[in-house]
Amino acid sequence: MSFEFKTIIEPFRIKSVEPVRLTTEEERRQAVSAAHYNLFALHSRDVLIDLLTDSGTGAMSSAQWSGIMRGDESYAGSESFIRFEEVVKELTGFRHVIPTHQGRAAERILCGEVVRSGDTVPNNNHFDTTRANVEHGGAEALDLVIEEGRSPEVVHPFKGNMDIEKLEGVIRERGRERIPFVMTTVTNNAGGGQPVSMANLRLVREVCDRHQVPFFLDACRFAENAWFIKLREEGYAEVHPRDIAREMFSLADGATFSAKKDGLSNIGGFLAMNEDDLAARCRNNLILTEGFPTYGGLAGYDLEAIAVGLTEVTDEDYLRYRVRSVEYLWEKIDSAGVPTLRPPGGHAVYIDAKALLPHIAQSQYPAHSLAVALYVTGGIRSVEIGSVMFGKELPGGGEEPAPMELVRLAIPRRVYTQSHIDYVSEVVTAVAGQARSLTGYRITEQAPTLRHFTTKFEPAA
Ligand code: F0G
Repeated sequence: MSFEFKTIIEPFRIKSVEPVRLTTEEERRQAVSAAHYNLFALHSRDVLIDLLTDSGTGAMSSAQWSGIMRGDESYAGSESFIRFEEVVKELTGFRHVIPTHQGRAAERILCGEVVRSGDTVPNNNHFDTTRANVEHGGAEALDLVIEEGRSPEVVHPFKGNMDIEKLEGVIRERGRERIPFVMTTVTNNAGGGQPVSMANLRLVREVCDRHQVPFFLDACRFAENAWFIKLREEGYAEVHPRDIAREMFSLADGATFSAKKDGLSNIGGFLAMNEDDLAARCRNNLILTEGFPTYGGLAGYDLEAIAVGLTEVTDEDYLRYRVRSVEYLWEKIDSAGVPTLRPPGGHAVYIDAKALLPHIAQSQYPAHSLAVALYVTGGIRSVEIGSVMFGKELPGGGEEPAPMELVRLAIPRRVYTQSHIDYVSEVVTAVAGQARSLTGYRITEQAPTLRHFTTKFEPAA
């Protein structure tokens, strides 16, 4: 007789441990004040559970570490590159694979080669670096996610989908020659780590074909997206996530990729595409800025770690555990009555700070206030995805707030255990119970772009 067990366990055991440091609330209060209330400015030794990002923070497997010993550090023609390229080609099917030191370098090279002033780049939602790279080229970064994807409380199985009618409209109105490429981000990080359906990717492909506009994926979390397709889209329940991922890539002309997410690696990325001329230009740009095309700003051992990571990440036991463990945290927070973005995403739980802190005006950054409180109360570092990250300064003074005020609890891959996650939900519940006592913040210093990394704050009077 065989049993169906409910508990989905971590499909690994721990070979090496890294201590975390417990601090007192008073110590954390001092640390965050010294950091000008910017969690990016904290020292990691003052953080107990670090949910700032799932990027580059994962634990590598023993197979990855042994791959690292195989790293071939030859400047040109490295064996490690050949292994890396083979895995990326097998997965994506793209003809040209250009390694980069991380995702934003791939974005910079692509945008640098094709984006011109006055252009428009449509995406479901640009992530911050993608937006900044598009805007740096003088173009407009346009977010065209479906209406459901704009409201935290609305449930939809593929809330990351592109609004196809709007996409068609934008291309018609602005002219295909002003659209250097269309991008879809899988999963849609800025919109809550929400997946995009295969059907939607197919429709984007059709629109791009009709107008002869190239279609690129921002594929950082392609494996989590593939798992959601398997769980939620008709016809995919029996398909292996790797085959789903291959089909996703087959619908695009190219991809930018940060190996720090679903590459299960601490650094790295790539730009891949089919078009020969563009690839040649991008490679020249790479040589100028990142390195020779067989290492692209990475060590040979990084290429090995990514090659192994890209093989491990589509394992069904891994993906089942990964997506379920994020959902587990979400269920606990949700059942405590804390407003969240629903359903939970693939890599993170997003708390809806606008709903939790209606007494803090958006001009005083409610999501930022919540993120600071989670740190002070429980040593948890999260990230604000709201008006600090995406607010726009208006020409006459003041700011246009972001559409959503979210606090993202991003879960590093294979790092924290269930008791860490239970602790996180306890802290979130305790802070939410004191929501009324939280107050807003004021910016005292900021940078012209990507300001959230370095902004200084003080508590509003
Ligand atoms: N695209 C998406 C959707 C991302 O989430 C990120 C990074 C990038 C591109 C850039 O990749 O960091 O390797 O240069 N996101 C991280 C995060 C930083 O915390 O979500 P990168």
